[in-house]
Amino acid sequence: MVTVMVFRVKVSGVIDFAPQPLQGRQGKVKSLLSITRPFAGIFLSFFMSYESRTTNTRKRSVMKIIGVAASPRTNKSTRFLLEQCLDAIKNASEASKNGIEVELIDLAPLEIQGCIACDACKKGVLCSQDDGFQEIIPKLADPEVVGIIMATPVYMGCMTSRAKAFIDRTVLFRRNGFLFKNKLGGVIAVGGSRNGGQELTVQAVHAAMMIHDMIIVGDGDHFGGAAWGNHPDGYEADTTGIATARNLGIRMGEVAATLRG
Ligand SMILES: Cc1cc2nc3c(=O)[nH]c(=O)nc-3n(C[C@H](O)[C@H](O)[C@H](O)COP(=O)(O)O)c2cc1C
Repeated sequence: MVTVMVFRVKVSGVIDFAPQPLQGRQGKVKSLLSITRPFAGIFLSFFMSYESRTTNTRKRSVMKIIGVAASPRTNKSTRFLLEQCLDAIKNASEASKNGIEVELIDLAPLEIQGCIACDACKKGVLCSQDDGFQEIIPKLADPEVVGIIMATPVYMGCMTSRAKAFIDRTVLFRRNGFLFKNKLGGVIAVGGSRNGGQELTVQAVHAAMMIHDMIIVGDGDHFGGAAWGNHPDGYEADTTGIATARNLGIRMGEVAATLRG
């Protein structure tokens, strides 16, 4: 005897991923922010366009390189590799006295939504979404920043959704006079497998950096940092991967110092 089971699927509506309007007090705070944010954004736009006009005519005493860790987990392999990279920049900077400072931004504790294409950033260096990205805007807008290093785990052969959300939100710098133009860009990818898509991931982030008209820097040998998170002895034992991350840092410092002259 054959038993035939019939499943009925009732389609009751479409799922709407668009953010819903905020109610009550949250809504009022949001409206207040939407009134004040454009002024802050316009100020930031004027300031940054002045800075980028004068950048080439005066030498900076301080140059900063920002590292962004884009794993949803803090203090794991991606952050470790990024710390190695930034440590190499610091060591090389101390040895050569080229005055390069580093800062690490960890996206793990921050809520960062994807871009919603509201076009608010067409009016200035601002974003309408009230989330963790707001605190990063002034850090990236700092004219002393000469380079950005993105470190991301490999998820399904590419960057994490957190890394992509962050990158998409940086469109506001592009829309306000290509404010990342000529900044250096480096990438570190950490995969669970030795060859799990690290190079593809690095290239995907490079593509976004090129869309910003940034200058891509590798590790002096290949594409940048490529590390093995599930190394049998732990990611701290992946000496090959650690070397690529540290060499990327050394190259970022060298190129920054060379371009400054
Ligand atoms: C959803 C998901 C997808 C993943 N896909 C890949 C992959 O395609 N290739 C790979 O090598 N590792 C993959 N991994 C493993 C992570 O890249 C690896 O564990 C990495 O070290 C995690 O970084 P973290 O320790 O900083 O969180 C995946 C992990 C998750 C959770």
